[in-house]
Amino acid sequence: MLAGRRVLLGISGGVAAYKAAYLARRLIEAGADLEVILTDGAQQFVGKQTLAAIAGRPVHTRLFDGLSASPHTDLARWAEIIVVAPATANFLARAALGEGSDLLSATLLASKAPRLFAPAMHTEMWEQPATRRNSDQLVADGVHLVGPIQGALTSGDHGTGRMVEPDEILAEVIRILGPGDMAGLSVLVTAGGTREPIDPVRYIGNRSSGKMGNAIALDAARRGANVILITSAEAPDHENIAVVEVESAQQMADAAWSSLEGLDVAVMAAAVADFRPGRTSDTKMDRSAGPPTLAMEPTPDVLAGVAERSPETYLVGFAAEVGPLDRAIDKAKRKKVDLLVANDVSRPDSGFGTDTNQVMLVTPDGHRDVWPTMSKAEVAHRLWDTVLERR
Ligand SMILES: Cc1cc2nc3c(=O)[nH]c(=O)nc-3n(C[C@H](O)[C@H](O)[C@H](O)COP(=O)(O)O)c2cc1C
Repeated sequence: MLAGRRVLLGISGGVAAYKAAYLARRLIEAGADLEVILTDGAQQFVGKQTLAAIAGRPVHTRLFDGLSASPHTDLARWAEIIVVAPATANFLARAALGEGSDLLSATLLASKAPRLFAPAMHTEMWEQPATRRNSDQLVADGVHLVGPIQGALTSGDHGTGRMVEPDEILAEVIRILGPGDMAGLSVLVTAGGTREPIDPVRYIGNRSSGKMGNAIALDAARRGANVILITSAEAPDHENIAVVEVESAQQMADAAWSSLEGLDVAVMAAAVADFRPGRTSDTKMDRSAGPPTLAMEPTPDVLAGVAERSPETYLVGFAAEVGPLDRAIDKAKRKKVDLLVANDVSRPDSGFGTDTNQVMLVTPDGHRDVWPTMSKAEVAHRLWDTVLERR
């Protein structure tokens, strides 16, 4: 239901915070990728450790934690939705005012993600004119409010102010997130470096780690696309990703070319060998026979093959370059791609094996867009935004 969707759960300081632990559990069970922020108030009601154990990662509590350079903007960019449950009267006031005095409210200010608040408080607090103004303002600002409902309150009273049950909040999250902006799209991604066998134990390979292709496949899957990932590297696990494991350029070509039916987009991020040994020994070459001479032959051009066989597929190529990226413009024209992503693999913060990448997007008509160094996950997300916009 929420497989791979990035949900940020904010918990503020009301008694119903104990129910937020169950909500966190239900979000995880639904497949969500969960980050949690606890306000100072919330920590009076539930322990950080409980939420960390449920989320499977540390929770966030401080704007100035000394660990992350900018926790509010990092979390804001990451989140696909921000859920605050319970939302206290105090929190609603901060959010309505646009305050950023703590991590949760600063994250909201920095985010464009949809937000869903589940207020919970004593009836008098909910009916207070200030709270009414704040909740009206939040609805006018586009915030989704769920509840509160009438029922038994912790104080022993009965009235409006009770938080809706966690399963109802979960259902709202599912409804708001919807199926994803790539739902129904059929996508092919290649990743990793090919290995061209010399004999049964040796091969000619390259330094590609598969991280960029994996990030591209995962982002598409999270956004609802059906992804075929043809890879020589370890693949990410996601219910929308069908993995085809290959080693050589020939295997990658065969797998890619037989996956083209009904394909909307192909992103060829694998580092495919251009040449392979013309002959492969069936037995391990023996040292005593002396150094072999390897006569090389060209491998199939996987990218060109996709362009030729499936011209209706929107085709994105990757070009690993060393030094200035000017050659990429020529390549974009020659390769008949719709978009070429060129990266300088000689830089320490870009290309093979790194977690960040610095790329330039080139179109066959010579238009280029140089992106700053970003994490590969961010490059992947922006790349899909660009593809969805252009196709
Ligand atoms: C025992 C107790 C229970 C509380 N329960 C609520 C509540 O259910 N809803 C609410 O809005 N405030 C409640 N408060 C008040 C908030 O904890 C207080 O306004 C706090 O500053 C909220 O901070 P926060 O919004 O940053 O988490 C409660 C306070 C106490 C002492």
